[in-house]
Amino acid sequence: MADPVVDFRSDTLTTPSPAMREAMASAVVGDDVFDEDPTIHELQAEVAAMFGHEAALFAPSGTMANQIALQLAVPRGDELLCDAAAHIVSDEIGAAAALSGLSTRTWPAVGADVDVAVVESMVRPEGFVAVPTRAIAVEQTHNRGGGGVIPLSALQDLRSVADRYGVHLHCDGARIWHAHVADGVPLATYGALFDTLSVCLSKGLGAPVGSLVVGSAERIAAARKLRKRLGGGMRQAGILAAAGLYALRHNIGRLADDHARARRLAEALAPAGVVDPDRIRTNIVPLDLTKAGLDGPAFAAAARERGILTSVLGPRLVRLVTHLDQTDEGIAHAEAVLPALLS
Ligand SMILES: Cc1ncc(COP(=O)(O)O)c(C=O)c1O
Repeated sequence: MADPVVDFRSDTLTTPSPAMREAMASAVVGDDVFDEDPTIHELQAEVAAMFGHEAALFAPSGTMANQIALQLAVPRGDELLCDAAAHIVSDEIGAAAALSGLSTRTWPAVGADVDVAVVESMVRPEGFVAVPTRAIAVEQTHNRGGGGVIPLSALQDLRSVADRYGVHLHCDGARIWHAHVADGVPLATYGALFDTLSVCLSKGLGAPVGSLVVGSAERIAAARKLRKRLGGGMRQAGILAAAGLYALRHNIGRLADDHARARRLAEALAPAGVVDPDRIRTNIVPLDLTKAGLDGPAFAAAARERGILTSVLGPRLVRLVTHLDQTDEGIAHAEAVLPALLS
């Protein structure tokens, strides 16, 4: 019998379930550039309430939601601080520079850990010729940081720093749901710490499209204009918002299954010295193949031969991501096959 194909490349690869498609098909829609789509209104209100903020704005992608939030916070030329592996500076094709005109300065990335004293020491005040720091961004959970969760206490300390210096605090919360499920921190507790958040419906929650910017009513009114300028004004996109509502109402709690599967995979692979299972908190399993003396592309090719698709992130770095379109059978296949490829 042929091996099953198990796709661990990303949690963005999920496709809408039949029930989600039904919700999409029956969505009541209107022109959202006219601000007349009832399903988008419902989604925006629901997400704003989840995070305890006044308002939210539906956007086509996480990248656009981040850039809208950053443009709200940082005048062109002024500065954003974030870590060196943040999606905002490493993975958005230079949008922060090319589209938002930001200066960025980064602190060294160590998983999801944040040394708040280091961040504070980097904040630069307004000066005659200085580039002033206007915003700090963190990523929860941290994608390149192996799905790590920033502890609530560190975020609270960052909030104090932001208040002390009058700096905007943004959360790239593409997978904030995963942090909420892993650490049990209420979404509203996270929401209270940030001036803006971007959150995604298409990363692990199973919706095909969509992110939201969350913030005050005043900021979100300004965000509507920025979204239109970036080409993100959509028309009858309530069809997509309906998928998002379905995802939020059905697929957050089940993320615990993805986390448990990621942990199981890490435990199966730990004897090869490529991953520490205790660092796997959510649905991302980075494999550092250095100790096993293996080459990332070669490992990925061998895994593909056995029906297991992985992402190659570096010469010796491969990543597995668990998500709702995988089955117990697929996970068991990976647990059986991958350790042998590492020996
Ligand atoms: C942490 C994080 N932020 C933002 C994004 C951007 O999302 P999109 O691909 O929808 O633009 C991603 C995408 O994977 C992500 O992982």
